[in-house]
Formats: sequence, structure tokens, C-alpha cells
Amino acid sequence: MDKKIKKAIFPAGGLGTRFLPATKASPKEMLPIVDKPMIQYAIEEAIGCNIEEFIIITGKYKRAIEDHFDSAYELEENLRKSDKKKLLEEITRLNHIKLAYIRQRAALGLGHAILCAKPFVKDEPFAVLLSDDVIDTEETLLKDMIRLYGKYGCPVVALEEVPISEVNKYGIIKGTAAGDSVYKISDLIEKPSKEKAPSNLAIIGRYILTSEIFAILEKLPPGKGGEIQLTDALKALLKKQAIYGYLFKGKRYDAGDKLGYLKATVNFALKNTEISDSFARYLLDITMTLKHKKQH
Ligand code: G1P
Repeated sequence: MDKKIKKAIFPAGGLGTRFLPATKASPKEMLPIVDKPMIQYAIEEAIGCNIEEFIIITGKYKRAIEDHFDSAYELEENLRKSDKKKLLEEITRLNHIKLAYIRQRAALGLGHAILCAKPFVKDEPFAVLLSDDVIDTEETLLKDMIRLYGKYGCPVVALEEVPISEVNKYGIIKGTAAGDSVYKISDLIEKPSKEKAPSNLAIIGRYILTSEIFAILEKLPPGKGGEIQLTDALKALLKKQAIYGYLFKGKRYDAGDKLGYLKATVNFALKNTEISDSFARYLLDITMTLKHKKQH
């Protein structure tokens, strides 16, 4: 079996209800974090892991994603003529990558989105990146997961410990420790109540999957929220295959949520050489003002 992960799927067909009205007619995945759309961070993360083919699952009102990754002849010419080399480099840097778009006709859930990629993935193992889980650029989460897949040859999901009050926002696993930061999974449940959660180990938006998942997804009835849930498919897969969880201890932002999005923005702004100093000064200023207001 070839254990190299060459393909990655980027589900982007969701409705983005948590960002309405901003996402009424434009994709959530195109919301910028400083100066780059969210989905570009995920694509660049995959490029850093030597992924060669990128499959974006799109939907209604998502055409801006295709335009973003297309070449922009007029703009490029303009920047070339005005000698704006750095900007030109920035907008053409990803022009060569192999991208495919598949339209998910209805937002029927994450599992359904993955199933839409079946004809492109065929029988290869593949990565899934949910672009609203933004991983700090210094982290090596996906690389570590690919390494783990190489060792076990089984699906690997990324995990994070979350407060028990937040288990209802995630797929939650039950598992036993199987090495440094590694869990062997024995059960999974999508967005349980805190009473029903088997642990506080939450699945975060990075997966290494094998093509066995497609046959399960094809037959899977709708689950939580009436959607075809990837978590339910993984639970069914457990009967045939081991699944491992990799506990991530680094920085992740839930940028699909307003507060998480703002935190990601602040973090990336503080890393941006163009604005970091003046932005840090501004943050200090407003922190002082807020402190002062609280004291009086
Ligand atoms: C999806 C998955 C969930 C996972 C989460 C990670 O939920 O269904 O299992 O924990 O992504 O971000 P969503 O955030 O799309 O509701």
C-alpha cells in the first residue's frame, strides 16, 4: 500500500451561518485573516506537507474561492508594469498548484462533502483540512499526522482537549493512550451533551483518511442535525479498521466562530512584519484604557 499522502480535501460548501450577514453572498472561507483568506492558510499548510493535489468542495455562493486561486492576468500585468514585485510574487505564488473543484449541490454535512470527492481520490489515502480550524504557521500538526499514518497505515484524526462545557461543539472520542500524544480510538460521538461525552478529547479539523470511508458514507443515514456526519462514518469504520487520534497541544483557532476569528486575526497580525510593532502598541494602548475603565 502506498502510504504517501498526495491529495487533500478542503470542504468549503457549508453555509457559514455563524458569520451572517457577512456570509450571505460570499464564502466564509474567503474571510481574511489579516491579508489572506482563511482557506489559503489551509492550502499553504498542505503544501508544506508535500501534498500535490488539492480538492476544494464548493457550493452555492462560493465562486470567489475559484477566482481567488485562478491567475488574474490584468492585475498581474498591472503589478508588473508598476514594478510591485513583492505583491506580484504574493498573488502568483500558488498559480502552479493542481486544484480541482467539486460542487456539493446541497449542504448535507461534512460526511457528504467528503463523499463528493470520491471520484478524484479513488483508492488513495488522503488528508482533510477544515479551513476554519486555523493552525498556527509554526506548528507541524499535519506533518506529524502523516508520519503517524505512515507508521500505522490507519486513519488518524487530530484531537485537542477542550473544556467539558464545549464538548457539544465537536466530535468527541473515547480512546486509550497508545504512545506519546497518540490514542487508539474505541468510540466516537458527534457533538454530545456534556453528560453523554465519553471524554473531553475533541476532533479538530485535520484528518488522514483511507478510501474505505467512501463505502460507509454512501450508506450512512443522516445523524446529528440531519446531516451526513464524518464522525458517524468513522465510528462505523472502527468495526473494520483501527483509528488513531493525535493529541495536538499547539495553537489552533476556531476561526469559524467570531471570537476565535478575532483571536486568529490578532495572532497573525502580531506576526506580520509590516504592522506588528504598531499593532502591538495599539493593543497595549487599548488594554491600558480598558484596565483604567474597569478600575473606575
Ligand atoms: C466538524 C465535525 C466535528 C469536528 C469539527 C472540528 O464540525 O463535524 O466532528 O469536531 O468539525 O472543527 P463543524 O465545526 O463543521 O460543525
